[in-house]
Amino acid sequence: MHEADPTSQSNYLQIATKHIAFDWTVDFDNKVITGTATHDLIARIDEVSEVIFDTSYLHIEGVKVDGDAIQDFRLGPKHEVMGSALSVPLPRTLSAGSSILVEITYRTTANGTALQFLDKEQTQGKTFPFLFSQCQPIYARDLAPVQDTPSVKLTYSASVRSVLPVLLSARRISPPSDGPAHDGKTIGKDEVVYKYDQPTPIPSYLLAIAAGNLQYKPFQVPDGKQWKSGVWSEPELMDRSFWEFSQDTSRFLAAAENLAGPYRFGVYDLLVLPPSFPYGGMENPCLTFVTPTLLAGDRSLTGVVIHELTHSWFGNGVTHAHASHFWLNEGWTTYVERVLLQIIHSPAHRGLSSVIGYNALLDSLAFFKDKPKYQKLVIDFDYGENPDSAYSRVPYDKGANFLLHIERTLGGLEVFLPYVKDYIATYMGHSITTETWKNHLYAYFQKNGSDEQIKALNSINWDAWLHQSGLHLPVEMEYDLTLANPANALADRWYESRHTMDISKLDFESSDLDSLDANQRAVFLERLESYNESLPARHLFHFDELYGFSKTLSTEIRFRFYTLVLKSQAAMHFVQGAANWVVGADDTGVVKGRMKFCRPVFRAMFKVNPDLTISTFRQARTQFHPIAQSLIAQDLGLDLTGLRVSG
Ligand code: BES
Ligand code: ZN
Repeated sequence: MHEADPTSQSNYLQIATKHIAFDWTVDFDNKVITGTATHDLIARIDEVSEVIFDTSYLHIEGVKVDGDAIQDFRLGPKHEVMGSALSVPLPRTLSAGSSILVEITYRTTANGTALQFLDKEQTQGKTFPFLFSQCQPIYARDLAPVQDTPSVKLTYSASVRSVLPVLLSARRISPPSDGPAHDGKTIGKDEVVYKYDQPTPIPSYLLAIAAGNLQYKPFQVPDGKQWKSGVWSEPELMDRSFWEFSQDTSRFLAAAENLAGPYRFGVYDLLVLPPSFPYGGMENPCLTFVTPTLLAGDRSLTGVVIHELTHSWFGNGVTHAHASHFWLNEGWTTYVERVLLQIIHSPAHRGLSSVIGYNALLDSLAFFKDKPKYQKLVIDFDYGENPDSAYSRVPYDKGANFLLHIERTLGGLEVFLPYVKDYIATYMGHSITTETWKNHLYAYFQKNGSDEQIKALNSINWDAWLHQSGLHLPVEMEYDLTLANPANALADRWYESRHTMDISKLDFESSDLDSLDANQRAVFLERLESYNESLPARHLFHFDELYGFSKTLSTEIRFRFYTLVLKSQAAMHFVQGAANWVVGADDTGVVKGRMKFCRPVFRAMFKVNPDLTISTFRQARTQFHPIAQSLIAQDLGLDLTGLRVSG
């Protein structure tokens, strides 16, 4: 296992950034950000004579060290994944603990992955362009020269000039969030300078920017809280966004504080992005980014918000040291997200979320059947290997199940939650490895637990959970099935009917679904998909006539429906509909840019009709986020322009 970050060329073990001051201008005409990044660095060892930053597709214009321009900085050759290292020789040799200022003047380029500049047609309002960033896992280096490793934590301040309102993953200094939009100036025309400050140290992957015609509406916050919370969106989506999230956000944040300790970032806002946003949510500090597909109109998808706010402690507070230990972020967050569901709703809700996660985990493990390394919880990445290729439900759900298994082995939540508090208190602000986590777990129970509990810990098959691959979990898990059972029962009834060839003899009605909520409907479709034998085409047509899944506006349901039918004999009938849906060539008019939806749908379509799939992708490619473009292309065996890779 690499001790150092396998995805960074920076020399962060010798010298590390403590603070960055950004001075940026957002240039919507040229789709770039220009400006400076001034690093305040501290040497960690003696005799440091250079600083090495990660950059990718940045145009470096000049470097100053302690205010003096230098000429002999070097931009190294481009590594396909890690980018070009920027080496800055220092005019004096530093000893451990001494600091130096390095100012880099640069501009981003159109080839980078971190930024997506959208044309106005790609937004809800269709009147103004839009910009957003996605820096996790290794794209902060496309936004600014940084030591792009989660092992370095830094504070930052920023001054950003823009003709559209700007949001950053930090606290707004000016103009005030709750004042007139764009400081009362003309949106889209007048330049306004936005000033931000992030006083809590964060890893580089949490740097974030968004700019567009954005408005704010505050949520109510429980009495006595020092933090504020609210939602940002384009004006056209404000009412729906506020309704969807206003009930759950601050009460779950308060519940998470009870579990993990005080919220440290001062502000917890949500930003609803345009549909090409490639994730469900991204835990940018002070400002979680979410996909507009969460606006289901029934608050059924707020689990994503609960997940992202939980990262405020697990990930943004205690951080994985590097990509190999990513599960410490996502596994812990997923585990705690479900504990919060149990506390606020019921054990049955925790169970339903676990079932959905487990089904997705089995799919991921199967997806990596020829890449068993990515089935492991702790992944031994090669130097320069792309962590995005390993992205799957494994860190989330193998991780969450591992923690659930430890919780149960130790005696349940009552025993486990005090330990969770101690874990957070001990490593808050630090970046840690799996080994550090495990050592602390043992140390905690040695100090606060019994011999029985140490014995219980010793009974766990650590190697199987952490380091082994395979298509299943090392231990068969049991979940509360109160909510999953009715969904499974309906699916089983459909499956049993598969030999009844006379459709008029089938005993199903549209009202079958009335008692199932959106998450139960998802489980219903997943169960149907899990059978070895799929339903006959005629059954599936009848099924769709009754339930209307091929028309539903719920992306979670429509996605599962397409996954089901594209594996069946009815595939040819539905493949064009799936193609239209995923690129927005249907009545929804929007690309399904969230990779959870578009990647599997493209893969499933490809098995049914490769030519249609490739032409669909090629036509709509630039509508998708650069990360999604690259991963869909990889999934389909295409190059980045959508052409087949020969051989
Ligand atoms: N931090 C992740 C998103 C991420 C991970 C982006 C790795 C880039 C690289 C975020 O917290 C997340 O897990 N999002 C999920 C939400 C879901 C698990 C509730 C998503 O987007 O699906
Ligand atoms: Zn997450």
